[in-house]
Amino acid sequence: MNVSRRGFLWLSGAAGASFAGGCASGRLFTGGAAAHDPNLTVFLSDIHVNGQKEGDVFQRGKIAETVAEILKLDPLPARAVVFGDLAWLWGNKMDYQCSAPYLKLLEDAGIPVTVGMGNHDRRSTFLEVHPKYARTTKVPGRIVSVVDAGAVDFLMLDGLQGTDDRGPKDMGPVPGALSKDQQDWILDALPKWKKPVFVCSHFPVHELKAGGKPLDKLLVASPNVAGYIHGHDHRWYTKFMRKGWAYTQIKRTLCLPSTGHWGDIGYALMRTEGDKAVVTLRQRDFYYPRPDPMDPADRTLWKIVVRENQGLSCTFPLPRG
Ligand SMILES: [Fe+2]
Repeated sequence: MNVSRRGFLWLSGAAGASFAGGCASGRLFTGGAAAHDPNLTVFLSDIHVNGQKEGDVFQRGKIAETVAEILKLDPLPARAVVFGDLAWLWGNKMDYQCSAPYLKLLEDAGIPVTVGMGNHDRRSTFLEVHPKYARTTKVPGRIVSVVDAGAVDFLMLDGLQGTDDRGPKDMGPVPGALSKDQQDWILDALPKWKKPVFVCSHFPVHELKAGGKPLDKLLVASPNVAGYIHGHDHRWYTKFMRKGWAYTQIKRTLCLPSTGHWGDIGYALMRTEGDKAVVTLRQRDFYYPRPDPMDPADRTLWKIVVRENQGLSCTFPLPRG
């Protein structure tokens, strides 16, 4: 096990962060030393950091608080996976510059981060700030990653439609779609995957297709696919994938909360243990449309949802291969 260097970590420079708003310098107390659990992974989604002067900026404070909370975990997760929508709305370069120091805090604590693409991201701009993904992707022209998490793999697909040439404030299509090359790659790779694998993307599985058929048909039919995990809806919920009565097995999908944009606010931890993987929700808040205390929104239901979601988990049985 690795032991991380912890204590006060400094945020600095124009792309640093304050909890209150601006991309300013500051420091973050992260607690004492703790070991990493090789079987523990933290899932983050829909971070939506706004690095510009216009619009809501509360999302910066939420990711700062979330990272601080993760760095105080004992044991620490061995890796982090981000399920897309790292950018605020339009995939602006300043969004990626503003969020980069938070991801670096995790990396510096020995928690390597893998980021997937959401509909609010802009692939080419993301690559300007995080160029390594152009080298590591499994499918050229898209950002497709495989994360080795020991007992399981995470396959992060890229469902962002090919919209890098859109205008500066054009969000592009909201639904996801897999490129032809990516579909061909998974049609070949998934049925013969060597160990349990969680297929991941920003988008709900029903939005994606492979070989002209719904993606979940391929996932249910691929023996080592353990489940499907996604973001986009900013809510913690599970659904079943079942492709007709002829199939004797069903598999689950899991939707993750947002770290701070709207809806269920929090993150999730997956621990693999023996023949299962258990994902637990860390619900930090719920709000819609924003947490502004001056906002006249009725908070009654917000508080009920937070109470109801405390302690929720989702267990995936791992295929035996
Ligand atoms: Fe989102």
